[in-house]
Amino acid sequence: MIVLGIETSCDETACALYSSEDGLLGHRVHTQAIHAEYGGVVPELASRDHVRWLLPMVDGLLADAGLGRAAIGGVAYTAGPGLLGALLVGAAFGAGLAFALGVEAVEVHHMEGHLLAPMLDNPELQPPFLALLVSGGHTMLVAVPAVGRYEVLGETLDDAVGEAFDKIAKLMGLGYPGGAALARLAQDGSDTGARFPRPMTDRPGLEFSFSGLKTRAMLALAEVTDRQGRADVAHAFEEAIVDTLTIKCERALNQTGLRNVVVAGGVGANLRLRESLATMARRRGGEAFFPRHEFCTDNAAMIAYAGWLRLKAGQGAAAEGFAARARWPLDALSALA
Ligand code: KG4
Ligand code: ZN
Repeated sequence: MIVLGIETSCDETACALYSSEDGLLGHRVHTQAIHAEYGGVVPELASRDHVRWLLPMVDGLLADAGLGRAAIGGVAYTAGPGLLGALLVGAAFGAGLAFALGVEAVEVHHMEGHLLAPMLDNPELQPPFLALLVSGGHTMLVAVPAVGRYEVLGETLDDAVGEAFDKIAKLMGLGYPGGAALARLAQDGSDTGARFPRPMTDRPGLEFSFSGLKTRAMLALAEVTDRQGRADVAHAFEEAIVDTLTIKCERALNQTGLRNVVVAGGVGANLRLRESLATMARRRGGEAFFPRHEFCTDNAAMIAYAGWLRLKAGQGAAAEGFAARARWPLDALSALA
């Protein structure tokens, strides 16, 4: 079966084709540029841009794969969580297309997509594992005993990691979202001895907090005047975040008895984080798994794949309506079997 995946939960319009026989056939992502001048995503503009891009993108993707619409055997769309208007565009489109083609549609949880994305390129990876979800909107540790069963062990009490990266990057004049640019700048930074706090690592628990660290970085930035100074701050800030995430992951592995850790979400593209987690997991006799870079950030390959697993488990339905949920707790999902 060939599943068309649709993702429109925020400011990326994306579609993908996943074949149960041949794996991923292709995918496309359009990152909306219209938000840059506002320094954040403008929901109404996002919805309108999804409307503009979705149909031509899907047709282009099918053409690239040498397929017609009739080849689509099921449609998976992101039903939440995310911006409601943006989600509604993808949901209406996905369910409408499934209805017209007479195939099943399946609602996919955006974070489940992120969480399973490392399985796309690592066929040997199977639950149980610990997942660290780090994106612009989330920072979560999740125990995954089976596909579809997600136990949230800890979340951020304030800013998400990506959000903290983005806010500091913005102050450094690196644009929005600036996490990747900040990480590049950090490579030119040196150890000045300035040590930022590792928030909430000195007490038990798996919760995160990044607002205090962000304030420390802001204060440090106010003291510097040149690029090298900014690079040094970026270096110390990134190091504090990577250390904090690694300490909490190890704590969660100890607590759950799990060995393998999976990293997902946009901040999972961070190289220092990848190195640090891989070293920690290996030291404990486990392994760290990552999605390929392009599947760390929002994409539809992960949606098509998660959708396929649910369709295969008989969780699709005739598209007689559609759903979109701005909020949708991850642990409310049903297990596959
Ligand atoms: O999962 P994602 O694409 O989307 C949402 O959260 O919506 O994550 C995007 C986030 C942004 O905050 C971005 O700055 C951050 O991931 N990011 C990074 C890196 N690449 C992307 N943060 C740190 N280092 C990176 N290399
Ligand atoms: Zn995302």
